[in-house]
Amino acid sequence: MLRILLLGKIGQLGWELQRSLATLGELTALDYPEIDLLNDSQIRPIIHAQRPQVIINATAYTAVDKAESEPHIAVAINNHAVSVIAEEASRLGAAFIHYSTDYVFDGTKGSLYHEDDQTNPLGVYGQSKLAGEESIQAVGGSYLILRTSWVYSLRRDSFVSKVLEWSRRQTTLRVVYDQVSNPTWCRMLAEITAQLLVMSGNDGAAWLRERRGIYHLAGDGYASRLEWARAILALDPRRSEQIVKEIQPASTSEFVTPARRPLFSALNCDRFTYTFGLKLPAWQDALKLAMES
Ligand SMILES: NC(=O)c1ccc[n+]([C@@H]2O[C@H](COP(=O)([O-])OP(=O)(O)OC[C@H]3O[C@@H](n4cnc5c(N)ncnc54)[C@H](OP(=O)(O)O)[C@@H]3O)[C@@H](O)[C@H]2O)c1
Repeated sequence: MLRILLLGKIGQLGWELQRSLATLGELTALDYPEIDLLNDSQIRPIIHAQRPQVIINATAYTAVDKAESEPHIAVAINNHAVSVIAEEASRLGAAFIHYSTDYVFDGTKGSLYHEDDQTNPLGVYGQSKLAGEESIQAVGGSYLILRTSWVYSLRRDSFVSKVLEWSRRQTTLRVVYDQVSNPTWCRMLAEITAQLLVMSGNDGAAWLRERRGIYHLAGDGYASRLEWARAILALDPRRSEQIVKEIQPASTSEFVTPARRPLFSALNCDRFTYTFGLKLPAWQDALKLAMES
């Protein structure tokens, strides 16, 4: 039986991973406080005790704005802890699957981002995630870094759950039209991760080592936040509860936030599809499934 260690089991993605991975082997799923990524001395013994063949890291410091005022915490979780996990994975000969973000880019390219495009994060969150990517690459071993984008879940705070909530409290919504990326349902991301493990077979670490690297993996197609919000409202199965009458386009510059965000950070996922023969569905199709779930 494959021994899988999942870190971050109660996050958006981690919650779904726990379900998708459950049938694939002996799964140990942890989250804070069972493991505290701010405590380096705890990480190594926990990993060693489990002796996993695969480590999947769904933990992250994802509070983009808050990261600006507590960069040391963002960096500790998104880089230092990741580096320790990568070292332990390598020492055990385990495969390591990690997730990163479109926020490693500055959003000025004007077309879809490929894996080798120049990174230039605009804020602490993106910088800390990029540093995590670099640490994993420096360690080497059998790793996949899956850069994804605009991840949502309906059971935790996300753009989708917020739009649904606002639609029941406000008659007018103002949503930005100039931030564009790929909406990605966390369940699809979890399921495609599980598919990778199935494909990797009995010697997953060797299989992954041959394919190691950074891959973009996000919902197919892209949208502005405004288009996304409109689709959410249209697909809402309880539309009768909405009191919203109008969605007004707004520009990012109208909202003052501590962190700057890339404007066009949509990802091209062809490398992933070419390598693994898999792709995530169109973001609209996944959204429909998510809303019906
Ligand atoms: N959300 C997005 O839009 C988005 C976009 C692009 C990429 N990503 C990437 O996708 C991956 C999954 O994101 P997500 O949205 O699922 O994240 P999430 O919902 O914020 O979950 C992150 C998990 O990490 C845990 N965690 C945080 N600090 C910890 C610590 N010190 N020790 C142990 N666990 C800790 C959290 O626990 P608590 O809940 O207790 O804090 C939570 O379970 C991340 O790598 C993220 O960077 C996300």
